[in-house]
Amino acid sequence: MFVLNGDKRILLRTLVVTRWLQEAGTKNGICQENKKEDRTSSIPPTSLIPDCSLLFPGVGSGSIIIHDVEPIRYIWLAARSDTMGKGTVVMAYSGGLDTSICIPLLKERYDYDRVVTVAVNVGQGDEEIAVATKKGEKFADAHYTIDSRDRFVTEYLFPAIRANGSYEGYPMGTALARPLIAEEVVRVALREKARTVAHGCTGKGNDQLRFDFIFRIAGLEVVAPIRELNLTREWEIEYAKEHKIPVPVIKEKPWSIDENLWSRSIEGGRLEDPAYHPPDEIFGWTVPVEKAPDKPEQITLEFLKGIPIKMNGEAMSGRDLITKLNIVAGKHGIGRSDMIEDRILGLKARENYEHPAATVILAAHADLEQLTLTRQELAFKRIVDDKWSELAYMGLVHEPLFHDLNAFITESQQKVNGKVDLQLYKGCCRVLGRSSPEGIYSDDLVSFDSTTFDQCHATGVSAYYGIQARLVEERKKK
Ligand code: ARG
Repeated sequence: MFVLNGDKRILLRTLVVTRWLQEAGTKNGICQENKKEDRTSSIPPTSLIPDCSLLFPGVGSGSIIIHDVEPIRYIWLAARSDTMGKGTVVMAYSGGLDTSICIPLLKERYDYDRVVTVAVNVGQGDEEIAVATKKGEKFADAHYTIDSRDRFVTEYLFPAIRANGSYEGYPMGTALARPLIAEEVVRVALREKARTVAHGCTGKGNDQLRFDFIFRIAGLEVVAPIRELNLTREWEIEYAKEHKIPVPVIKEKPWSIDENLWSRSIEGGRLEDPAYHPPDEIFGWTVPVEKAPDKPEQITLEFLKGIPIKMNGEAMSGRDLITKLNIVAGKHGIGRSDMIEDRILGLKARENYEHPAATVILAAHADLEQLTLTRQELAFKRIVDDKWSELAYMGLVHEPLFHDLNAFITESQQKVNGKVDLQLYKGCCRVLGRSSPEGIYSDDLVSFDSTTFDQCHATGVSAYYGIQARLVEERKKK
């Protein structure tokens, strides 16, 4: 039985009337409040009923929603005496307040019989994963923790490096991790034979769309309680307490942080005022420049086909390299950004990020491309990289164009091999030198000291150089 307490979100939920109810009218425990008119007449014609799979994905097919039809005169209480629960729902789980309260919400408000949680390790830190695992095991009916760190690196970060992936200057750690997390949730859903998956994203950010895209392309139904129920923080805390879910101490942690191998994002709280200067306490990976060592540090990165394979001559996995470099470059205060970001929905948001390894790797990679790709390739690839980054930011990783761009990028990287020496010093990462067996560079041709390139030939080029512009100028004089 749906409970009515005058709360708008429950009202909406209550107004979910299954089709049999519409057909059967007053039978099976429908009751009516407020008015005495004929009950069935208060159900709006089908034309007024929005597509419920879009508006209320959790409702399922065969259901209708009476949504925003004013005046809503009746409160329908749909007795579910002859129906069963909705089976299993699998949810992406972080262990935070939002996803934790979703566990009881999915049962109480959405009528799922079983809630299965999935925590995906993309490098958010051992402690966070341990908390998610512990809470998932305690509060959900079944819990999975999946270590996808290597997959994250090889399937998402390596392509991002090859594409010089950057959205408005942000290396997209959060954006790149979401499709992978969603994919792991889908895999669990298949294993658990669940038709519905859930996430705890709000309706204002980007993650909802990134998750939904992967879920829907897999043919699953999506429920997003936080987005659909329009809950306040206060209500969530109260509800969590009722369900004995531990509530994080807000005063100590006023920021919303999202962390993985590629970046650490800090938003919310006072940072929502774009004029507010970020306090030092928000940073976890980088030191302020004033506290960075006075001595510069030199490192060498070696790339094979556009991917970093060695640091300081030592071969290591992408994951180890990124993890180590985050520490080394973070110590020098490298890789902070404070920006106004254009979200997918059009909202501008103030974002702070830390991404020491990403800053260094992307700088080295772009530099090596400059040595190994032709001018034409570079110019075209800048366009491709931009589009790739936009699609990656939007989470549209199965958009056919994304695959097409990846094909071009992969092909272009076959000769992006070589070494880059970098200096890390006081918040700056500077390329000191680069070398490549594939470098399109000939010191013999370009050197001041060589005569191999016969300068006389340039006279012929120069004679007609800019000929069109010169003709235009001549015409003006006539
Ligand atoms: N704005 C970034 C993105 O959409 C990062 C958001 C991270 N979320 C957070 N709660 N800090 O990719």
